[in-house]
Amino acid sequence: MAAEGLRRARVRRPRAPAAAGFVSHDEAFRTLRSNVLVATSELAHPSIMITSAVPGEGKTSTCAALAESIAASGPMVVAVDLDLRRPDLHTRFGVENTRGVSDVLSGRATVADCLVRVGLTGDAAAEAADPDDTTDRGYPGRGALFVLPAGLPVSHPSELLGGPRTAQVLEALCEHADFVLIDTPPVLPVADALGIGRLASGALLVVETGRVPLPAVQRAKAELARNQIRVLGMVLNRFEDQGSLAPYHYDYTADAAPSASTVGDLSRLFGRSRNGSRPT
Ligand SMILES: Nc1ncnc2c1ncn2[C@@H]1O[C@H](COP(=O)(O)OP(=O)(O)OP(=O)(O)O)[C@@H](O)[C@H]1O
Ligand SMILES: [Mg+2]
Repeated sequence: MAAEGLRRARVRRPRAPAAAGFVSHDEAFRTLRSNVLVATSELAHPSIMITSAVPGEGKTSTCAALAESIAASGPMVVAVDLDLRRPDLHTRFGVENTRGVSDVLSGRATVADCLVRVGLTGDAAAEAADPDDTTDRGYPGRGALFVLPAGLPVSHPSELLGGPRTAQVLEALCEHADFVLIDTPPVLPVADALGIGRLASGALLVVETGRVPLPAVQRAKAELARNQIRVLGMVLNRFEDQGSLAPYHYDYTADAAPSASTVGDLSRLFGRSRNGSRPT
C-alpha cells in the first residue's frame, strides 16, 4: 500500500471566526477532513482513533468536529466514545449517555440498541444541504452521523476494552459505516488507547500546543509506534502560528467478524449493508 502524507491541521479554537493570519474552526476541520480522506483513500471503511499524550488536549472536541465535517461531505460516519473513564462525546452531540459501549461490552445491550443518529449543525449542516457541493471522495448521499456513547463509567475500563467484544464492535461499525472515529483516553496516563489503537486503521494525535511539552508528545508517539499503531497525523490544537507541514504514514489491518449478539441488527438501523444494498 502506498503511503500518503498527512499534514498537520491547525485548530485555533472552536467556532472561531476567521481572523488575519488564522484559519476559522470550520476551515481548519475541512482541511483536516481533506487530509484524513487522502490518507485513508485506499481503505474501504477506515476507523480512526483520536488520542493525545495527556488529558485535556482536545481529543473529544476534535473527534466531534471532524465527525461532523466528514459526514457533511457525504459519508456515513459513526463517532464512538471509547473513553470509558471520562466519557464526554455524548455531550458534544447533546445525546444521553444512559447506555452505550460499556453496556455492549458487558453484554447488557447491543450496538444497535445504543447508536443514536444526530443531525449536523452549523457549517456542516449547510454544506451537507448544498446541492452544488462536490464531495471529497464522491459519496453520493447527504451524509449521516451516528454516535455510540460510552455508557456509564466502569471500574476496570482496560479489562473491558481489552476483550474480544471491542474488536467485534469496531468491526461491525466499519461493516456498516464509511468512517468510524473513536474518542479515547490519553496515551501516557493509561493503556486504554494503545489497546484500542491496535484495532483501528490508524490514529490522530491531538497536541495542545503551548501547554504540553515536546518530550511528552514524543513519548506518546513512541508508545503508539511500539504498539504498531500508525499515526495518520497530528492535530495541533490551539495553534497560534502558521508553521511547517510534516508527513505521516498509514496502514491498515483487518479483524475477525463480529457476532450478532454483540452487534444487533445494524443493517436495519443504518438502512443499508456494507456494500450499500438496502436491507430486505
Ligand atoms: N481549540 C480550542 N480552543 C478553545 N478551547 C478548546 C479548544 N479545544 C478544546 N477546547 C476546550 O478544552 C477543554 C478540553 O477539551 P476536550 O474535552 O476536547 O479535551 P480532551 O482531550 O477530550 O480531554 P480529556 O482528556 O479529559 O478527555 C474543553 O472545555 C474544550 O471545549
Ligand atoms: Mg475527552
